[in-house]
Amino acid sequence: MVKLFEKAIFRGVELRNRIVISPMGMYSAENGYVTPFHLVHYGKFAMGGAGLVFVEQTSVTRKGRITNGDPGLWEDGQIDGMRQIAHVIKAQGARAAIQINHGGRKSGQQRAFRGNGPLTDRDIEMGEEVWDPVGPSDVAFSDGFRTPRPLSHDGLVGVRDAFVATARRAVLAGFDVIELHMAHGYLLQSFLSPLANFRTDDYGGSLESRMRFPLEVTRAVRAAIPSSTPLFVRISATDWIDGGWEIEDSVVFARRLKELGVDLVDCSTGGNLRAGSTNANLARGPGYQVPFAEQVRREAEIATGAVGMIRSFDFAERILQDGRADLIFLARQMLFNPFWAHHAAEHFGLTGKFEDWPEQYGWWLTKWHGALHASGESPLDEGRLRDAAE
Ligand SMILES: Cc1cc2nc3c(=O)[nH]c(=O)nc-3n(C[C@H](O)[C@H](O)[C@H](O)COP(=O)(O)O)c2cc1C
Repeated sequence: MVKLFEKAIFRGVELRNRIVISPMGMYSAENGYVTPFHLVHYGKFAMGGAGLVFVEQTSVTRKGRITNGDPGLWEDGQIDGMRQIAHVIKAQGARAAIQINHGGRKSGQQRAFRGNGPLTDRDIEMGEEVWDPVGPSDVAFSDGFRTPRPLSHDGLVGVRDAFVATARRAVLAGFDVIELHMAHGYLLQSFLSPLANFRTDDYGGSLESRMRFPLEVTRAVRAAIPSSTPLFVRISATDWIDGGWEIEDSVVFARRLKELGVDLVDCSTGGNLRAGSTNANLARGPGYQVPFAEQVRREAEIATGAVGMIRSFDFAERILQDGRADLIFLARQMLFNPFWAHHAAEHFGLTGKFEDWPEQYGWWLTKWHGALHASGESPLDEGRLRDAAE
């Protein structure tokens, strides 16, 4: 049995396989509204055969955006565009997921494809909006970043309610799965991590106190969405920095998430910094984050997603076969090859050539493949195609 293509069921939602398009910010929304670019971008992944397609981190408030190009669901007018995306994804047989986020002390920066980092005077002259971020404490993310205003108790309630309202809008838009972003140094993770949280009230200090706000948000969102809607949480399983958040903390946290009705912990890492330090979020080779998904799964007894430098069909399959995770999240490899899932099905001999591809493509590709095959070539074998052209 090929595990990658085993169905997965979370609450009322069945995934046709265990291949997930990992959330990827495209920084291309206008004023928090998605555009035709997003529709094509996400629809393409569903056509490519993935079981679950994640819409990128989507902000719960206007000032929670990481960049001016982030989409949001902080007002009702934003639902329609998201509804079209969810509809297009589902019309292709995939399920639609959305990651919701507040950028915290990392909000208000430049779009990734323009270099990340704090907005410069030139960016502001060019029309980028700038605002003062909020965070657990008044410690800036890194050099040049604005110092966040620590959230008051009323501020915490406001953020929690914004997550709830956003999750409700996501359900109205037709998303099957909601994920809370508690990774990469954004607001909820910055409450967890001792690198960013220096509070002396009930929300800082001990592990229990640092977990309090993220758990309050989780509890409130879980209560606000239908019981048939799965709730996932993305964590940074480790900060990769001494004195920061560690995998042992993640196991404790994952147990608490499970008690609150979270269905899967999506195990990423890094993204947070100690003031004055440099980025420690180093990619450490193929599957470098898989051990964290494995440990959380084993010790917290909760389903996990593995992510990070997973590219080959066989490696993805082996992670599942070895019981190290329940879903495989792929990001950059899917940008490179959105049809990865169809290629994987063929690789494992599960389908006839192009059988599961969109029928509008399959008929043509079957004929084309047949013709190429007859002349000793394969349309998937790029190396040989190159040879033939030379
Ligand atoms: C263009 C791009 C945008 C990303 N945006 C997000 C995001 O919105 N939320 C998130 O949790 N991770 C984001 N990530 C991280 C990916 O989801 C993934 O964890 C990471 O790229 C490692 O997986 P990979 O090696 O398959 O690319 C992004 C990655 C890329 C390449």
